[in-house]
Amino acid sequence: MGLVRTGVALDSDLLRRFDRLLAGESYENRSEALRDLIRNRLNEARVQSGEGFVVGAITLIYDHHHRLLPERLTELQHRYHEVIISTVHSHLDHDLCLEVVVVKGELKRVQELGSRLIGLKGVQHGKLVMSSPDSYGRRTRNGTNRNTATDHRHPD
Ligand code: NI
Repeated sequence: MGLVRTGVALDSDLLRRFDRLLAGESYENRSEALRDLIRNRLNEARVQSGEGFVVGAITLIYDHHHRLLPERLTELQHRYHEVIISTVHSHLDHDLCLEVVVVKGELKRVQELGSRLIGLKGVQHGKLVMSSPDSYGRRTRNGTNRNTATDHRHPD
């Protein structure tokens, strides 16, 4: 992927406000911030299209004493096992649990799982974060090779 330089005309006030916003964040430069905005927007559009392959995480905070909640969480995760890579559970204190369900698969199925888990009675806070590899140019070979979609090497 080669870099292409492009010029964008912005009104000075807009740019000033953008720079002020960046000052509070940890971007190395304005270009990287703009690239991130574009990527986020592309990702959003892809996710809103309602189709395709996504990776992500569902974060849940709940009180494990809540009647039948742990059983319901387990039951649902078994029902959607094909889109779940792993689940991390952390006991935050005597009552509260934090569970992160790492997901990968069809957007619709992942969204369905997310809303069902988050919608369970007793879940105090829940959030589904998704990213569409297609939106940043990763070929996922729709249909057949989804499991190898993110195959890559790590340095030794
Ligand atoms: Ni726990």
